[in-house]
Amino acid sequence: MALEQAIIMWIHLICSAIWVGGSLFIAIVFAPILKSIMPTMEDRIHTMVKVGRRFNKIAIPALIILIVTGIWNSHQLLSRPDLLLSTNYGVILIIKIFVVFALLCSYAVHVRIIRKDVEEKIMRKEFNETQILKLRKKIIIVGEVTVVLSVLVLFLAALLNSGI
Ligand code: HEM
Repeated sequence: MALEQAIIMWIHLICSAIWVGGSLFIAIVFAPILKSIMPTMEDRIHTMVKVGRRFNKIAIPALIILIVTGIWNSHQLLSRPDLLLSTNYGVILIIKIFVVFALLCSYAVHVRIIRKDVEEKIMRKEFNETQILKLRKKIIIVGEVTVVLSVLVLFLAALLNSGI
């Protein structure tokens, strides 16, 4: 039914706006501001972790709903392996699914680096300067990879829509 399809796509778009928009906001607006207003690295990491955990409360459900509605959008094609491999649409869809999988992995690593015990160690100043710098670099790189993959998923969605 057309209306049902439109509603599912609407939900897919809202969740995409939450996930990609939220990640870009944190990376482009929030992180640089934090750097200019919080002098110590421990405080910055602490604030960023708080914001990240709060964002996760909406971002993780959004990501799960994206996957469920994405599968819904494509279930007819996914059940036709012959068409999946013989049409541009099918191949782009497979690439999109792979990139989403890579995105899930990088996001899981990103969240895992700064789990509760690591955060507590930072706050108790149990890491020296070099260790903190290394940890921070790792978090930033994996975070950036996640944001780039999210934007790449949008490009693949646009390709699907273009009828290429
Ligand atoms: C981070 C995860 C995802 C994001 C940000 C995302 C984003 C989007 C966006 C913005 C559109 C709208 C494109 C348009 O204008 O039509 C779209 C469409 C679509 N998405 Fe996703 N998506 C994600 C995950 C998935 C997954 C996991 C699947 C499949 C298993 C999927 C399948 C589809 C399909 C089939 C369409 C319709 C494309 C068309 O034919 O127009 N999406 N997605």
